[in-house]
Amino acid sequence: MTWLITGGAGYIGAHVARAMVAAGEEVVVLDDRSTGVAARLPESVTLVEGSASDRALLDRVLTGHGVSGVIHLAAKKQVGESVEKPLLYYRENVAGLAVLLEAVVAAGVRDFLFSSSAAVYGVPDVDVITEETPCLPINPYGETKLAGEWLVRAAGKAHGLSTACLRYFNVAGAAAPELSDTGVFNIVPMVFDRLTRGEAPRIFGDDYPTPDGTCVRDYIHVTDLAEAHLAVARGLRERAGGDLTVNVGRGEGVSVRELTAVIGEVTGHRADPVVEPRRPGDAPRAVASAARLSKELDWTARRSVREMVESAWEGWCLHHPEARARQRS
Ligand SMILES: NC(=O)c1ccc[n+]([C@@H]2O[C@H](COP(=O)([O-])OP(=O)(O)OC[C@H]3O[C@@H](n4cnc5c(N)ncnc54)[C@H](O)[C@@H]3O)[C@@H](O)[C@H]2O)c1
Repeated sequence: MTWLITGGAGYIGAHVARAMVAAGEEVVVLDDRSTGVAARLPESVTLVEGSASDRALLDRVLTGHGVSGVIHLAAKKQVGESVEKPLLYYRENVAGLAVLLEAVVAAGVRDFLFSSSAAVYGVPDVDVITEETPCLPINPYGETKLAGEWLVRAAGKAHGLSTACLRYFNVAGAAAPELSDTGVFNIVPMVFDRLTRGEAPRIFGDDYPTPDGTCVRDYIHVTDLAEAHLAVARGLRERAGGDLTVNVGRGEGVSVRELTAVIGEVTGHRADPVVEPRRPGDAPRAVASAARLSKELDWTARRSVREMVESAWEGWCLHHPEARARQRS
């Protein structure tokens, strides 16, 4: 069977494509390259350049490549931008998904995996977030991911698709330096960016009700996340018409201060973090229960936070050689 990966030239999508190919799956990628990089993809993968909401193109790709499963990662993903441009986010992440699902149903595709996010939960006041924790997103990005899940499940139920929604927690690291995240929107590249410019990392708030007062998050290595997609994709084949919604995290909390310390050790940049005021919308603690994925598919993340930081640093230095020069000076 052939898998179509939308957004497969992106940071996570390219890791998923590689994991699928390494496991012997046939893969075709559809990506508009708005943030994607073609060179991230293995040579054996066909890259179709275009939009994942272009119905005519989708019809050609789905039938032309005999696609029987879709992994949908293409999306807009910046929380701040979603607050400024909610209409763009709803159009891309929700209306675009509806077009894709129409094409999927028309082409008789059997399996559909959707990239969701811990942002669907908002700021829950719980120690561990299970899939039963109420979803109360606090920004348009999270809303579009939740609405996307509703669309996927409803289409699955009505049309006999097997569906899965993967709620990613904080993704970091890289399988190889050239696959690293080139954006500066997540905490690890944000700290690297400050250190490279000779500035101290920033911590937003150290008076939260957590052991060291800084926010606690659940970080997952992107290689683990990619392997989770493979496990879910294979699991879906055995559940005709079934649906699975799962957290993808390690089930382990790491505070911003702890993470910053690991970054200091790995990079050799020892600048003490500066504490700034809290940012609106930051939950004190967001840690996944990883139990469902473990129980349903016998899958658990294996890689440590240190491995995430080390691999992310190699990728960062590939794109910012000055970071290493400053580290040595
Ligand atoms: N990075 C994270 O920490 C994180 C956390 C939770 C969820 N997610 C979700 O994972 C998915 C992938 O995120 P990423 O970090 O790899 O982002 P990314 O920006 O690196 O990848 C997105 C890819 O989709 C492509 N794309 C965007 N809109 C498209 C469209 N309309 N048609 C075709 N291609 C399009 C881009 O060119 C890019 O290659 C997104 O759905 C995102 O919401 C990411």
